[in-house]
Order: sequence, then C-alpha cells, then structure tokens
Amino acid sequence: MIRDARVLRAGFIPQEVEHRDHEVNHLSSVLKPITSGEPADTAVVTGPSGTGKTCVSQFVTERLREEALNVEATYVNCWRNHTRFRTLYQILDDIGKTIDIHRQSTPHDELIDRLQQYDESRTVVILDEADQLEDPSVIYDLHSLPQFAVICIANKEEELFSQVDDRLVSRLRSSEHVRMDKYHDDQLYDILRARVRWGLEQDAVTDDQLYCIADAAAGDARLAIGILRTAAGKADRENSERITDTMLQDAAGDARAQIRQKSLDSLTPHQREVYEIIREQGALGPAEIHDLYTKRVDEPRTKRTIRTYLSKMAQYNLLEAEGTSRDRKYAVITSGTSPSTD
Ligand SMILES: Nc1ncnc2c1ncn2[C@@H]1O[C@H](COP(=O)(O)OP(=O)(O)O)[C@@H](O)[C@H]1O
Ligand SMILES: [Mg+2]
Repeated sequence: MIRDARVLRAGFIPQEVEHRDHEVNHLSSVLKPITSGEPADTAVVTGPSGTGKTCVSQFVTERLREEALNVEATYVNCWRNHTRFRTLYQILDDIGKTIDIHRQSTPHDELIDRLQQYDESRTVVILDEADQLEDPSVIYDLHSLPQFAVICIANKEEELFSQVDDRLVSRLRSSEHVRMDKYHDDQLYDILRARVRWGLEQDAVTDDQLYCIADAAAGDARLAIGILRTAAGKADRENSERITDTMLQDAAGDARAQIRQKSLDSLTPHQREVYEIIREQGALGPAEIHDLYTKRVDEPRTKRTIRTYLSKMAQYNLLEAEGTSRDRKYAVITSGTSPSTD
C-alpha cells in the first residue's frame, strides 16, 4: 500500500512543483542576483492557506542552493517565533552565530550587529507567516542588509501592511509580489497524482477518488494531501490493498479535524484568548470581541491587531465570518461544520 510515506507528510518539499511554473520562475528571478553575490530585492508571497506558498518558497530556495555554492537558506515560522527577538535569534541560530548569546537578555541591537557582520555567504531568509509578527520591524532590519534576501510570506497583503510602519510599507509595496490563488480541482488532482506515484502502490486509489478528494479540499492542497495521507493510513492499518470510499469519507472529516487542531495549537496566547471568547459567547463583532478581550488580559493588543487575528483565524478555518464588512460577526467553526467556500 504505502511505498514512501515521506511524500505524504505535511512538510515534504516535492522534486517537482505542479502548476506553479510562473510563480516559481518569478520568485527565482527575484532571488537570482544572490547567486552571483549581488543583493536581491525582497519578495512578498501571498495567498490563502494551502496554495503552495511555503512549498514554492522552499523549492525555489533549494534550487538556488543547487546552482551556487555560496548560497544558504534559513526558514523561520514567524507565527511560532512572533517576537522580534525570537525571529532574529532563530536566523542567527541557523547560521551558527548564537553560541554565546544569553537568550532574552541580549539587546536587539547586538543581534542586528551580528547579522550585519555575517558575510560567509548570501542567505535567503524565508519569513513564513510574516503577518503574525508582533513587531514587523525585523523585516526592515533584514531588508537593509544586502547579504540577506528576504521572502516574506503572508495570507493577505493588507494584513502584512497594516502592521508595519509607512517607511516599510513603501519599501514592501515596491518589492516583487508573487500571488497564489486557490487551486482548481484539476490542479489538485495532478498534485495528488504525483504524490500517489511516489508514495503509494499505483492502484491503491482510483482517479475518481482523487477527484473526490480534490473536490472536498476546495482548492487547499494541504487539506487534499491530508485527506490522502489519512485514508492511506487507514488502508494500511487494515491491511487493505486499496483505499475504499468509506475510508475516504472518514478521512475527509479526520483530516479536517487534524488540521484544525494543528492551527489551534499554533495560536499565540492572545489569539487563543480571542478564540475562547468567541467560542464561549457565540457570534460576535470585532468591537464586542475587543471589549471582552481587554477585560480578560494584561497588556491587551490594539483593535487593529485583534482584527488581524480574526482574519488569520478565518483564513485557517477556525472562525467563520458572517455578514458584510460593516456588520461582520465571527463564529467558531466546529468539526461538524465544513468551512464555507468563497
Ligand atoms: N504546486 C504544488 N505542487 C506540489 N505540491 C504542492 C503544491 N502546492 C502545494 N503543495 C503541497 O501542499 C501542501 C500545502 O502547501 P503549502 O506550501 O504548505 O501551502 P501554504 O504555505 O500556501 O499554506 C504541502 O504539503 C505542499 O508540499
Ligand atoms: Mg505555509
């Protein structure tokens, strides 16, 4: 049944990226100068969840490292490392410059100095989920250092820009922008087919079943691969040579629940508080949410930041937005309800 489980894992970077030639070429051309030691422009990559932003960024970076000896890459998930300190620390750690840094007590300036002095190679820094940075000035810090080329990944451009100061907005607006849209069913089918080719016995799953998965995933490749992985896991445990339709149906619900749980686990303490308020109270508007939230936490974040939290949680199918932008309300999506497709 399973020939190579690695290709079904969430973080796997495929040998070939399907249907993203234009985006791959665009991003490569932005970063290309660093292969000859020249500074490269910052690239902004945006799109909904599961559209291949992380995958394409890592794929392109790996290709550049294949081409040139003196190119390195570091990856930071800014959701997990949402403070400026943690992001800078993570980058320095990747390039091996943290040995004598005592965490937290080291001033930011010193971290920046170290980055500034670093000249052993040109380095691509992938700032994934950059819209989750509490202090996005770290983008500016890196932007001004020629030995680093930055890929900034976010769901929506507005959310990224709403958090940064004007100086950085104008820089980012003039950066190269790679936009990714949700996949069509045919494209998801091809992505799934390629994974089956590497990962499973050829007749483990039929074309019709792959189209069913593509349909259920509604443009989201993470969900599509998650459903395939869950179904293949079930078949394997039951010593079945094929994925049955029943397994597939169960897998669709399970994969969705798993992804939702993973997103919930990614929430920062402040985001979690906002989520809990909505879970307890039912559908609420941003102003009501902010009022309740400020009563519950020390050092509450601004209204604007709370709005970005709400949007992020909606992007990750944790919350559902109802109504027009003027009287929008947010409600929790539970495992029973499937997210709306817009
Ligand atoms: N064009 C593609 N070709 C092959 N695999 C893809 C493609 N786009 C996405 N994937 C796979 O789908 C999953 C989700 O993609 P990811 O890059 O994590 O999405 P995003 O970062 O936009 O949320 C990953 O497992 C990734 O390898
Ligand atoms: Mg991603």
